[in-house]
Amino acid sequence: MATPVARVRWLAAPSGPQWLEQALAHPLELLIDHAHCERKAAGAALQLMFRYPSDEALAEALSPLAREELEHFERVLALLGRRGQALCPLAAPPYGAALAKLVRRQEPGRMLDSFLVAGLIEARSHERMALLAAHSPDPELQELYGDLLASEARHFGLYWVLCERRWPRPVVSERLEQLAAEEAQLLARLHPQPRMHS
Ligand SMILES: [Fe+2]
Ligand SMILES: [Fe+2]
Repeated sequence: MATPVARVRWLAAPSGPQWLEQALAHPLELLIDHAHCERKAAGAALQLMFRYPSDEALAEALSPLAREELEHFERVLALLGRRGQALCPLAAPPYGAALAKLVRRQEPGRMLDSFLVAGLIEARSHERMALLAAHSPDPELQELYGDLLASEARHFGLYWVLCERRWPRPVVSERLEQLAAEEAQLLARLHPQPRMHS
């Protein structure tokens, strides 16, 4: 699965240096946000399983993904606990909501866009975890992000495969290009905060 996927370019633009600066300056706040992101990633996969309850191929792909995201959530939660940090609520940046608005309302566009938006979020997480693994001065955080980023790469690959099994590649690529451009423009407009997606 990983081979064809590795050639797909998901992100239209890399994260800016201001984001990394914020993230490294507030590692605990970022971890709290990260825990919430893992929980939401599991929720997004489950939501698709509820929306398309009879789609076995979708369930076969997304049920393990949801479980894995919950394992990530538990791992981040345990790390927060060891550091004496509660999983307090944090205002989420408008990233997820803005991307959700790009999903077309009518099928089959709705399904394609939902897969691609989920994949884009995974791809951005992967990119940022790689930056954190490389630049965090904290060995425990380097290890955490280094371990998790491989899963996130697998996850966007999985969403790509779900698309490619249902639509011709040019249709998927063209829509991905549009959504990726929107995602990059959105991040450029957001104020950099210590959040995974700001
Ligand atoms: Fe994850
Ligand atoms: Fe993921």
